[in-house]
Amino acid sequence: MDYANRLEHRTVTMKKTTIWIAVLFALMVVNPAGANPIPSSTLSNNCAGCHGTYGYSTEPMPIIAGLPAAYFSRIMRQFQNGKRPSTIMGRLARGYSESELDDMAAFFASQRWKSPAQEVDNTMVLKGGKIHEEKCKVCHKNKGRYQDDVTPRIAGQWLEYLKISLQEYSRSDRKMPHYFMTTISNTLSSKDITALAHFYANER
Ligand code: HEC
Ligand code: HEC
Repeated sequence: MDYANRLEHRTVTMKKTTIWIAVLFALMVVNPAGANPIPSSTLSNNCAGCHGTYGYSTEPMPIIAGLPAAYFSRIMRQFQNGKRPSTIMGRLARGYSESELDDMAAFFASQRWKSPAQEVDNTMVLKGGKIHEEKCKVCHKNKGRYQDDVTPRIAGQWLEYLKISLQEYSRSDRKMPHYFMTTISNTLSSKDITALAHFYANER
């Protein structure tokens, strides 16, 4: 490389460095320290141990990736104020401010739901499918894939969590806040619950 070439090379490198400094500076201006001290992705790291990095958990922790932000925020506030019985989430949720909960809701809502492959029993799937048609499909449309601000997706959720969740709604000693889900769960036998869990786990 002759001198002129080296000089040109250095100028290009310097230009690149200047661009990077400018980008970093712009980022600091857009997000000045103090405005949002902990980004939502960092906050959400505290959930990764159980719900996976982007909300894609390992059984039996619920998958929370892609849940609607409004549903997520409401459930987290119910955990926080004790209206929603829980084993762990109540204590955990109390550590977050209102705006942190909303940031996390937005973060997880922007992730994509992934349904894991699960082993199911075909007889149970068929039995569960019948109960779904009869009692659940008005709200859990498209075989449980549908979701909106009040209704969570249940298709492709972990089988074990679906069972636990349905049992929770029907427990009289731990009153769940949702009237309708409580009423309907009370009409299900534990075999029905198992069948329904197999059915939704199979709907990926
Ligand atoms: C130690 C394990 C653990 C950690 C850490 C954890 N969770 Fe959970 N999460 C659970 C369990 C278990 C449930 C079921 C409710 C219960 O029993 O507490 C749950 C339920 C939930 C639900 C309700 C899901 C649904 O489908 O209704 C949401 C939302 C949630 N967690 C969000 C979070 C967020 C956000 C964090 C991080 C701030 C977090 N969790 C950290 C274990 C955990
Ligand atoms: C009237 C509408 C409606 C009907 C009918 C209904 N659900 Fe739900 N379901 C909901 C709503 C709303 C929620 C969220 C409840 C809450 O906030 O606790 C829910 C929550 C659930 C959950 C908890 C999901 C989670 O992530 O924790 C499961 C599981 C579920 N429903 C299964 C069923 C099954 C099985 C049936 C039929 C036997 C059924 N639902 C019938 C509206 C309905």
